[in-house]
Amino acid sequence: MTHPTARVPIAILISGRGTNMVALVQAALDGRLSADVRVVLSNRPDAPGLAHAAQMGIPTAVLSHRDFPDRESFDAALADALDSRGVQVVALAGFMRVLTPTFLRRFPHRVVNIHPALLPAFPGMHAQRQALDYGVKIAGCTVHLVDDGTDTGPILAQGTVEVRDDDDEASLAARILAVENRLYPDTLQALLTGRIQVSGRRTVRSIGDGSC
Ligand code: GAR
Repeated sequence: MTHPTARVPIAILISGRGTNMVALVQAALDGRLSADVRVVLSNRPDAPGLAHAAQMGIPTAVLSHRDFPDRESFDAALADALDSRGVQVVALAGFMRVLTPTFLRRFPHRVVNIHPALLPAFPGMHAQRQALDYGVKIAGCTVHLVDDGTDTGPILAQGTVEVRDDDDEASLAARILAVENRLYPDTLQALLTGRIQVSGRRTVRSIGDGSC
């Protein structure tokens, strides 16, 4: 996506506690992620992740969807807010809003999401509960590009966990989350440094850290 050593201006969008956001910010601060985190933005003013971002020295912003009459006007304002900060890549990290083409057209192939299931199984809400209810033995998470559908964009990476007989939704979600927190920075780094090539639905990841 860019020269391996350049730092890409990114935004991280959250709605809640923000462990994936913290993992991305920490990777950027440690130099494992070639990103300049311009803003952590939440659509919910009470998102606990906002305080974590501020503690890490990252600018924060709130854009409440409740202040807008419809999805299109919220998405247009959201894109304007990110554009004004020079953002080039958008990382969704527990951002619980479906983005419309109004937003996605402004950041074509530059919006990434993490979802707590092995897509295309169990898209949408309560993915871990869906997996348990279905009775799968292997669960996991997916990092993917965002397209017009719900959790349907090209898959960049997946991580797996075994489902235990005594798992409940909380225990399974916690083990998947630990994998998410490792997989997301690693995958975003590969994307930002041009080590993931996207061709239609297929994505190919090259070997090497791309930094020399
Ligand atoms: C994560 O499990 C993430 O995969 C999920 O929300 C959680 C956010 O946790 N996202 C979705 O379900 C999106 N469809 P976090 O706020 O601690 O990163």
